[in-house]
This record gives sequence, structure tokens and C-alpha cells, in this order.
Amino acid sequence: MTVAVTVKADGTGPRIDRNIFGQFAENLGTGIYGGVWVGEGSPIPNVRGIRSDVVTALKALRVPSVRWPGGCFADEYHWRDGVGPRAKRAVTVNGSWGNALEKNDFGTDEFFDFIGQIGSEAYISVNMGSGSVKEAADWMAYMTADAGTTAGAERAANGHSAPYRVKFLGLGNESWSCGGAYTPDYYVDELKRYARFARNLNVEQNGTDNPAGGSIAGSDPMRRIAVGPGTLDTAYTDAVMRAWKARDWAWSIEGLSMHQYTWVAWPPSYASIGFGEREYATLVKDTLKMEDMIRIHSAVMDKYDPDKKVPLVIDEWGVWLQKLPGSRDGFLQQQNSIRDAIIASINLNMFARHADRVRMAAIAQMVNVLQAMILTDGAKMVLTPTYHLFRMYVPFQDARRLPITFDAGTYRFGDVVLPRVDAIAARGTDGKLWIALTNVDPGRPVTIDVRIDAARVRAATGTVLTADRVDAINSYDRPDTVVPRPIAARVHQGRIAITLPPKSVTVLSAAE
Ligand code: AHR
Repeated sequence: MTVAVTVKADGTGPRIDRNIFGQFAENLGTGIYGGVWVGEGSPIPNVRGIRSDVVTALKALRVPSVRWPGGCFADEYHWRDGVGPRAKRAVTVNGSWGNALEKNDFGTDEFFDFIGQIGSEAYISVNMGSGSVKEAADWMAYMTADAGTTAGAERAANGHSAPYRVKFLGLGNESWSCGGAYTPDYYVDELKRYARFARNLNVEQNGTDNPAGGSIAGSDPMRRIAVGPGTLDTAYTDAVMRAWKARDWAWSIEGLSMHQYTWVAWPPSYASIGFGEREYATLVKDTLKMEDMIRIHSAVMDKYDPDKKVPLVIDEWGVWLQKLPGSRDGFLQQQNSIRDAIIASINLNMFARHADRVRMAAIAQMVNVLQAMILTDGAKMVLTPTYHLFRMYVPFQDARRLPITFDAGTYRFGDVVLPRVDAIAARGTDGKLWIALTNVDPGRPVTIDVRIDAARVRAATGTVLTADRVDAINSYDRPDTVVPRPIAARVHQGRIAITLPPKSVTVLSAAE
């Protein structure tokens, strides 16, 4: 079977915001401790306590933003516990995640050091659950005020005299659940206070003529992101967007969060290793619920914001599976297979198709937790199939989406019926034409015939991510089982012919 794909090379679609490739790094399990932070005295090579192998790997992904410190943990995090001399920091318990001892070695200054090392931006979530508006405002002052202020002087004494840039500020997390179980109306009342007073005081970033610390002047003002939905229930979306429409000068938001995981049903019971085609097909199908989530919540947003000023920020997404046998409860450790990379491609393609509204996202999570980019165990590190998929998609960061049409066909397993092929196309910031093609079918290759309208393609090069088995993973012993490899693409009379292996993702670049 040949699938005909047509790309309009002169089409003008929306920009695929690079912020959809953001990542989430919560103080959870070994996501930070062990995965990012090893401490200055560690035999694992590090710069100021941050492991260098992980930094090098992440730099290659051009991670636009890192969301921290949570998640549910954010609503029990008290920033003061994590600043100042490490020996004097509070030792607390991470009540959200396995009651692990939280020594607070990795606090605000270590976080900014980390994102500086990987070249990313801060997405800070403030504590609206067990904190106060004053605590959030004080934290913002610590991070963003000039060193001439008391708060800025404290930061300077801790080693950083220049204000930090907080590009994104999350106002609460899942406030309908672990963040306080607030009703939508109660959340909105609180939101207004936090949005008003948790000010960004970084003059260079935000300007001075800026009462809400938000978006009047300055070169790159901070965006405040409100809690939104985590199911098809639109109550939060409606309440927050209604309030946004009726806002006055004193407060605003510049984003609405949405969380949507692939887990089939709660609690997550699907294994991350040693599974077969039924589990593969079922999880891919579950991923498609993201489309309904985006469509239904976008429709509510459109009602109040037809010009799409407020982005939908999908700041928790990914495959959430059963914990690995032998791993600690609450540490959310799972392996990562070719299935997860395929699911990541399907999600990213959905975000790209909704690029006018979905302008930011964060996969859960960065290292050692849920659908991670990287796994570590002591000094060992391995890059997951999802890491490689993100690397292959780098050319889509800030690219202009191009119109693409194709007949997806069907892949069936028992009663599970799925589109067989998925694809997006874009004009990269490098001026090149980029096409991502996913063959969901784990058993059959598919031949693709790409016609490019309004361009004369001379050559095409491709990279493919695939594996022999649906549950193929990269392990410390065999790190190269699922890695990108070159794939042949033939160009004849301006058309590209390529055969996609079963269960694969291919990224093609065409030279005109
Ligand atoms: O990513 C793990 C958890 O999932 C987050 O802490 C929470 O926000 C969500 O429920």
C-alpha cells in the first residue's frame, strides 16, 4: 500500500512555538536528586553539583523551558527551605512523593544554575496550596529584584547578584486536586491575588511601568499561567477564562494550563517493559484522547478569547505507566520504549496541528520520572527513545506549519482501530522543508509518496527511529537499541518516495 502525501510548500500556517518542547522536572524521586543534582563532592563529573553528562545531553534538545519545583510538590514547597548555605538548610519530608527526605540541597539558586547550564528558561510554579501570597511575592522578589533591595541583596549574598529571569510563572498546580481541592470560583478569587502580587521585579525583562508585573513594558515579559483542566470537565476552563475576559488593569494571566496523561485508567497499570501488541495499541489509542481535550477546552477558550491571546499550556503530558518492579513507591520510575517515542510524536503532532492555541507544553518528566528523556543510576546514564524523538524534532522548534494532506489508513489490533500514519510538515527557521512521518503499525511497513506543491525538491535526507519489538528499550548495557539512524529517501521528478518501517518515526528534510 502506498500513502500519497501532499505538502503545500508555499502555505502559511501558524508558528509551531518552540515552547511546546518544554520539560517538567519536579522534586520527585530521583528526578532531581541523582538525575540532575549529585553535589559538588560527587565522583560523578559535575559543575557546581549538577551532573555534566545530563547537561550535555539536554543541551542538544534546546529545551525551551523547565517547569519546577512541581507538580503536586509545588504546593508544599517553601522556597526559604532551599536557599542559603546548604549545611543550614531545612530538612523536610516530600509528602507528595514517597515521604522521601528532602534535604533542600537543590533550591532556587541551584535550579537557575541548572537551567543556565542547559540554556533554558525558568517556569516556576508557586505554592498556592499551603503557601501564601506573601510567600510567593517574597520568592519573586528573591529571584527578580535588583541587588539594591533587601531581597536582591540576599540573593547576591548567595552568589547571584543579577536578577534571574522568570519567564513563566505557574499560579498553582492541579488546584482542583492535590493543589488544594479548590472549587473553580475559589481558585479564581485566589488566582487574582497571586496574579496581582507575585510580581516580577526584573526591570530589564518586565519594564518599570508595569503594575501587575506582567505585560505592559519590557523586552520579554513574564507570562503567568493559571490552573486549567485535567479532564474533559470544563468548569475550571470556563471560570478562569470568564474571569480573564472580565479582568481589569490590576491582574491578568497569559496562559491556561492543561494536564493530560496517557494511562488508559487510573491508577496506571500498564507495564513499561515486557509488553506486547495489545498494550502497544491500547496506549496509542488512549493518547488520541489528547485531541478531544484540546478541542473541547479550546472551544471554551474561544468563547471568551476568540483572538487566541491566551495560550493553552499543556504542562503535564506523557505516558504514565506502572512503577518498575523493585522501585520505590511514589518515585514514578518507568522504562521508556519505542512505543513511548511514537506516542510522543503523536502528541507533538497534535500540538503542532493546534499551534494557534497550543503554544506551550512540558513533558512529564525530564529525568528518571515517568516518560523521561534520560535515565540514570549512579554514574550510569542512558538516553531514552523519547529523548531521541525530541532531538529529531528540534527543527520543528519555531517552524511555520505547512498544510499537509494524506489518507492515514487504518491499523487494527482486535477491537482497537487506529490511524496508521501520522504526519506534519513545516518550514524551519533554517528555511528548509521538514516533514515528520509516523508509521503506527507495528507489523507492516508503509510506502509514502510525497508530492510537494509549489517547490522543486532536489534531494531529501531522513532519520528514522524504530526497533524490532514494540517493547524495545535502551538499557545501560545496550544503550543503542533504539537510536536514530539514516533512512533512504528517493527523489524523482520532485517527489519523495520513502518506505517507513513498522512502528517508526521518520523526520525528513528536503532540499529545494
Ligand atoms: O507528574 C506527576 C504528577 O502528576 C504531578 O506532580 C501532578 O501535578 C500530576 O498529578
